[in-house]
Amino acid sequence: MTIVATTPYDDQKPGTSGLRKKVPHFQQPNYVHNFIQSIFDSLEGFEGKTLVIGGDGRFYNREVVQIALKMAAANGFGRVLVGQGGLLSTPAASNVIRKYGAFGGIILSASHNPGGPTEDFGIKYNIGNGGPAPERITEAIYARTKEIEDYKILEAPDVDIDTIGTTDLGGMTVEVIDPVADYAELMETLFDFPAIRAMFAGGFRMAFDAMSAATGPYATEILEHRLGAAAGTVRNGIPLPDFGGHHPDPNLVYAKALYDEMMGPDAPDFGAASDGDGDRNLIIGRDIFITPSDSLAMLAANAHLAPGYAAGLAGIARSMPTSAAADRVAEKLGVGMYETPTGWKFFGNLLDAGLATICGEESAGTGSNHVREKDGLWAVLLWLNILAVRKEPAKAIAEAHWREYGRNYYARHDYEGIDTDAANGLVEALRAKLPDLPGTKVGPLTVAAADDFAYLDPVDGSTSSHQGIRILFEGGSRVVFRLSGTGTSGATLRVYIEAYEPPDGNLGLEVPDALADLIAAAETLAQIKERTGRTEPDVIT
Ligand code: G6P
Ligand code: ZN
Repeated sequence: MTIVATTPYDDQKPGTSGLRKKVPHFQQPNYVHNFIQSIFDSLEGFEGKTLVIGGDGRFYNREVVQIALKMAAANGFGRVLVGQGGLLSTPAASNVIRKYGAFGGIILSASHNPGGPTEDFGIKYNIGNGGPAPERITEAIYARTKEIEDYKILEAPDVDIDTIGTTDLGGMTVEVIDPVADYAELMETLFDFPAIRAMFAGGFRMAFDAMSAATGPYATEILEHRLGAAAGTVRNGIPLPDFGGHHPDPNLVYAKALYDEMMGPDAPDFGAASDGDGDRNLIIGRDIFITPSDSLAMLAANAHLAPGYAAGLAGIARSMPTSAAADRVAEKLGVGMYETPTGWKFFGNLLDAGLATICGEESAGTGSNHVREKDGLWAVLLWLNILAVRKEPAKAIAEAHWREYGRNYYARHDYEGIDTDAANGLVEALRAKLPDLPGTKVGPLTVAAADDFAYLDPVDGSTSSHQGIRILFEGGSRVVFRLSGTGTSGATLRVYIEAYEPPDGNLGLEVPDALADLIAAAETLAQIKERTGRTEPDVIT
């Protein structure tokens, strides 16, 4: 074991989901080493225990897996489970941590951000429950990165991570595992595979876009091999270090080809996609895009149709910017509803405490208590299970849902790569206005309430403030303003817009029409054009 002297970097603060930077940034001398040592220095009691290592296969994944293995050995871990080829989707990593009682895991991913020599990379730490480290740990890691003076590493040749089996690395056991097997087995316990298999056998057609990212091998094994979907159901199924040059974010912009196909004349019955590390999902029925917020509500309302959830839900949780569609389901089911800040880590305590069973975010994340990460393929399989049992198209299920609960029209407008000072100025100006807003009119709308969202965790009593500016209008509509915590250049302003129509209201509007007054109100309130120089959002999801 070697102790190597190093000097701190001042920019290793983990964001919404770990440390994310461009690859060349990570390639600076000791940049990766400093961060990994800071993770280990912030943990206690891992001597001799198991660590899980895996990533989404993007550029630099293999190199960092080797560094992490050698540092884990030098720091005293007893065993590392690493996905073959360094690959583990984020939900699969969460499952492996839980299933094998690991102390924690290092997940290498920048999620839905592009990959390649000049694109994004990321490192995050997950704790023993399989979920992202809570803020108390990420803050300790950040504090450590600012003082670090040395790191420990084993001088050894690279480990063969491509052959399944066990090797020794300086007294630590390295087990290279099949990245798919444990995950596929878990899915079989949750869903009615025979019913879904029968649906495919009956001619049901599906298109799944793995976006040349981590979900490819999982989707191919589960959908095509175990469930009998036709060969070719999974497109872009081979993970590539640069995701084929694409942006592996399953939204209507980056998965436009799938969307167009689903709206076209020969559309399959069901379309879906997942992101770089396999935790996000996009759901498109024939002739209908299901927003992530609606998907959460519809999955929650129908979850009992899947064997894993037949006993019903303990509760539902959603991030604050996610629409309130799921709240109405929770109300009807008579179960708890929890509204958390953005970031899957906030669901961990609710899931561990048994308060929530299903969680979701507007950012295309949905999941349950089966792991402690959101899970793209899980959401797809739950949809398939529901379709197989109800024997109705997704569009009919969505329309029936709206007739029962009403419809939360929803869109998110993203202004990407804007000047950081301008973005902060915009949020500060809004915050300053908040006390005076209630009762004021903005166009035809009247502000009912306005605040800067703060969260009190009901399980551990911790608080998180400044989690987004909420402006609620009379009638249940709202706009929310937030700065992204996952961007890697400049700032991203997210504007979340939601209008509620009750069951007897107008349920068949085009989304932009339903939201027009709110979009205008957002501009008036935040002066987006004036402060950022932008007249249009870069991405609308
Ligand atoms: C990651 C997190 C999610 C979060 C999303 C958006 O995917 O895991 O929990 O919702 O980022 O975060 P942002 O801060 O960019 O809006
Ligand atoms: Zn992701």
